[in-house]
Amino acid sequence: GKGNYRHFMEKELHEHPVVLGDTLRQHIDPATRAVALPPLPFDPAAVPKITFSACGSAYLAAQVGRYWIEQVARIPVDSDVASELRYRDPPLPEGGAALLVSQSGETADTLAALRLLRKRGQHVLSVVNVAESTMDRESDGTLLTIAGPEIGVASTKAFTAQLAVLAALALGFGRARGTLSAAEEARLTAALLEVPGHAATLLEGGEEIQALAAEVALARDVLFLGRGSLYPIALEGALKLKELSYIHAEGYAAGEMKHGPIALIDQDVPVIALCPSGPLFEKTASNLQEAAARGGRIMAFTDAAGAPALRRFAERVVTLPTVDPFVAPILHAIPVQLLAYHVAVLKGTDVDQPRNLAKAVTVE
Ligand code: F6R
Repeated sequence: GKGNYRHFMEKELHEHPVVLGDTLRQHIDPATRAVALPPLPFDPAAVPKITFSACGSAYLAAQVGRYWIEQVARIPVDSDVASELRYRDPPLPEGGAALLVSQSGETADTLAALRLLRKRGQHVLSVVNVAESTMDRESDGTLLTIAGPEIGVASTKAFTAQLAVLAALALGFGRARGTLSAAEEARLTAALLEVPGHAATLLEGGEEIQALAAEVALARDVLFLGRGSLYPIALEGALKLKELSYIHAEGYAAGEMKHGPIALIDQDVPVIALCPSGPLFEKTASNLQEAAARGGRIMAFTDAAGAPALRRFAERVVTLPTVDPFVAPILHAIPVQLLAYHVAVLKGTDVDQPRNLAKAVTVE
């Protein structure tokens, strides 16, 4: 049941700290701070390419995984939504690997992509939340997310658990390939292991996000912007807001603003920016400043180091805990989910069962 929560989604949002902790401890030894992956169906040190595929939020988690694996392990990654990949017939290298991501393990398009990739000789690894699901059974290897049952149709804890597995995988691949030193591995696993505690802090202090939600609820259109590994989280923010509140939202790479979407900017379109401090901060901040100069109302998620610069032009700045840039996408995923939740509650939509949506899309 829902316990004391109004919706399953609210309950599931509050399960983030436990789910992230359980999922991370599955793949990281807290004592040694070393990644410990189960046997994989391919050798990450030798694999020529990994093809990622999934649908919806699971695809966006995979997109973050792509940034991580390319950055940390230097493995070429191709990725596409499963409904495209299955008909695209991409050239695939011999000995290549495929990585599929799915909460349910039953999504028709993802399953079709899995079968195609296997038939084409790729070694298939799946990240799924439901053990014994069709995808679990048909993959050469499975990494389980330990999110427990997710009842709310919009994915929340399963999404961040997918990110946790993909982060551990990227570090494990980096070690196998010699692109990540033991010291860096220990530093990044320590940063990951701190995420559950930060998630708990975020969930306790929701007032700023509620205040932001009250403004977003009045909008007809909303833009979400992010750069690097925060770009897929911007897309996820827009997807969540659309599906839960029925407000039109789009996510863009921050640097793409000036190539078209900036024409939409006026005081009626809130611009929600995911802009933690780190190597890309200045670039994103300058994109936001351009939007602000054209009358855009910037609402930024950042951290203590990023807040002062953004406060100069942003209407609202929500300060999240300070973390290593590597784990920032996991931490930023939680407030965008919370925002969509609060907006949906304010608009009175059916939070756990949005119109026209199904929890598992088992038809093409
Ligand atoms: C969005 C959402 C969907 C699913 C997608 C894939 O909140 O929940 O976009 O992520 O339908 O489902 P799974 O992960 O079961 O393959």
